[in-house]
Amino acid sequence: MTPAAARPDIVVADTVAALVETAAGSIRGLAADAIAARGRFRIALAGGSTPRALYPHLVGGIDWGRTDVFFGDERAVPPDDPQSNYRMARETLLAPAGVPEANVFRWQAESPDLDAAARDYEQALRARGAPPWVDLALLGLGPDGHTASLFPGTPALAVEDRLAVAVEVPQLATRRLTLTYPTLVGAKHVMFLVTGAEKRAALADVLRPGSTLPAARIIQRSAGVRILCDADAAQDINGAP
Ligand code: 6PG
Repeated sequence: MTPAAARPDIVVADTVAALVETAAGSIRGLAADAIAARGRFRIALAGGSTPRALYPHLVGGIDWGRTDVFFGDERAVPPDDPQSNYRMARETLLAPAGVPEANVFRWQAESPDLDAAARDYEQALRARGAPPWVDLALLGLGPDGHTASLFPGTPALAVEDRLAVAVEVPQLATRRLTLTYPTLVGAKHVMFLVTGAEKRAALADVLRPGSTLPAARIIQRSAGVRILCDADAAQDINGAP
């Protein structure tokens, strides 16, 4: 029986700028705590527009020499492709912060064998220690309730014995690589970054107790969930300003 998770901590910021400042301060604190406690901070970065706005604010204030950087998911493209989550993070955070290459765990998403790439990624996670596999999983939220590359109706939602998988995403007519529920639910902390009016319905839905959307399953099953959203995205949730 999965222990009932506490209701997530929901923070509504007036603007995206205020949201990323709040998120950056929270992440710097989590990094300092992890490094003080265990000598290492393991973060899984997210793709998407809100994380892209956040990353320049993380260049300073984190000991990147003692941080391991993973990615919650990746598109099946080479690392220099405009669609690559790795490329986005490299340009906005990893390069400006001088994160050592050895600390960055990139999905080999250009591989012709994505299943092998997922198995290799799982090994990289397992080689870095024991659960929780990451201290902080950063996640976005799609309008359909997807998060990472856990999309509604896809086989990845049923995976409980793997940390990372390759998955067909019919909605996008493509394959993706993604961390699975065991990895994301098992993260010590989960932080959703949700902005824009187009996310209003999805945010309200994933907070419904009976929601079966992918992001909802993480909110329902994780203990340390924080949702940072802007006023536009929060319009349909209780307590929104
Ligand atoms: C990706 C992300 C995906 C993203 C959401 C929200 O690879 O795109 O993993 O889950 O976080 O789609 O994206 P936006 O913040 O751009 O709306």
